Amino acid sequence: MDKIISAKNLVKSFDNGGIKQTIIKDLDIDIYENDFTVIMGSSGAGKSTLMYCLSGMDLPTDGTVIFNGKDITKMSSDELAVFRRSNCGFVFQQVYMLDKMSLLDNVLTAGLLINKNKKEILKNAKELFEKVNLSEHTIRKNVNKVSGGEAQRAGIVRAAINSPICLFADEPTGALNSETGNAVLDVFTTLNNDGQSIIMVTHDKKSALRGNRIIYLKDGKIFGELKLDKYNGDSKERNDKLNMFLEDMGW
Ligand SMILES: Nc1ncnc2c1ncn2[C@@H]1O[C@H](COP(=O)(O)OP(=O)(O)O)[C@@H](O)[C@H]1O
Ligand SMILES: [Mg+2]
Repeated sequence: MDKIISAKNLVKSFDNGGIKQTIIKDLDIDIYENDFTVIMGSSGAGKSTLMYCLSGMDLPTDGTVIFNGKDITKMSSDELAVFRRSNCGFVFQQVYMLDKMSLLDNVLTAGLLINKNKKEILKNAKELFEKVNLSEHTIRKNVNKVSGGEAQRAGIVRAAINSPICLFADEPTGALNSETGNAVLDVFTTLNNDGQSIIMVTHDKKSALRGNRIIYLKDGKIFGELKLDKYNGDSKERNDKLNMFLEDMGW
């Protein structure tokens, strides 16, 4: 499998009121193409911080991040913004969309930032909306007229519209109930089955079960790692494997 991201000696510190806090401590990690990588750990463990450093949303204090062959830690913030736009897709707990526009127009706007071929973007958008089960009718609604789950699924379409090298998701079901949360997780599974590489940060077991590689973060380092088969529905065996792993990790 090809490496899409390779981080070495990653350190991330923050200055909190004059006190230096090191959240990521000399961490190495490789991310592979087509994996659904899940980053777990307790609240405050540094999961989001690690994801931000791997995705170029933030720069590490020290260390290197080679992303698709380029050292993103050597880029200026302008270069990094351009790089992110064409190589990364982001999904957060909250969906930040332009609220005077329809779901479709939000997605097309994001697509046009990278690709000037409107016909092609429209075709890609329609295909993705179909994959995430949003109807022609729904995608023409304004963002403030749809449910949280529908908005999040449209948010994933927006994140995936430019075929990013990697899709990054930070607690994407955190604001949803379990039914709509499941529909959102199904979208990630579908995209991953179609070849989309995904990194998802979560403290939710149900979300973690979707991954085929679970990384556990503790004390600023990778404390353990679990490999699973690709997700093919919930099973007792899969559940047990994750539970045993998490118990080992001191979850
Ligand atoms: N922008 C920031 N400024 C200062 N401290 C931060 C910042 N982001 C994160 N931290 C610190 O890093 C710790 C870990 O944060 P985070 O990566 O969000 O944890 P997690 O996602 O695992 O819950 C926080 O408890 C906080 O102390
Ligand atoms: Mg977080």
